[in-house]
Amino acid sequence: MGVKRVLRVAVVLSGRGSNLRALHEEAPAQGYEIVGVVSNNPGAAGLSYAIAQSLPSAIVNHRDYPNAALFDTALADALDQFEADIIALAGFLRVLGPAFIQRYTGRLINIHPSLLPAFPGLDTHARALKAGVHEHGVTVHFVTDTLDGGPIIAQDRLEIMAGEDAAKLASRVLALEHQLYPRVLGQFAKDLARPPR
Ligand code: GRF
Repeated sequence: MGVKRVLRVAVVLSGRGSNLRALHEEAPAQGYEIVGVVSNNPGAAGLSYAIAQSLPSAIVNHRDYPNAALFDTALADALDQFEADIIALAGFLRVLGPAFIQRYTGRLINIHPSLLPAFPGLDTHARALKAGVHEHGVTVHFVTDTLDGGPIIAQDRLEIMAGEDAAKLASRVLALEHQLYPRVLGQFAKDLARPPR
């Protein structure tokens, strides 16, 4: 009989950290643990949240590294000390290289504020409004070498309301993000707890 253990999640971010907060608040109910937070931005509000909550944290500032590959290596070194099962990108604003992505294949996930494959990249809410789509939402996906193009794990959708602007749409999508990301990790946690057949 194996020892039952809790899914270990490390979060990587660059900014506000509202998804980190949601992930952290829902962790006990969903059966996973936030074991570490890494920020490339020393001024990230998400990092302050981690510190205030006594979550183990690290800063790996991309400005301290001469190139992206060395930054990626330092990021991986910082992450590996947390011994996480899953690396959850949550508002991480750097593009990761192939070596990093390969090292965490199947364990590296991201949340993106659109219904992928629609609207990869930035400014998703304004672009959705401009395109005149009726539905918009959020996607959690595995990270691969294709930006915002990895296998989709889960999505949540909403209907765009008449006359709503990008800010209003962004806040409604963000509320969906805060529900979906913890749910996805809860599912990973359940899969980990399931005895092997
Ligand atoms: C979210 O909209 C997320 O989907 C995107 O970046 C934003 C991060 O927000 N990848 P926060 O830092 O979690 O508040």
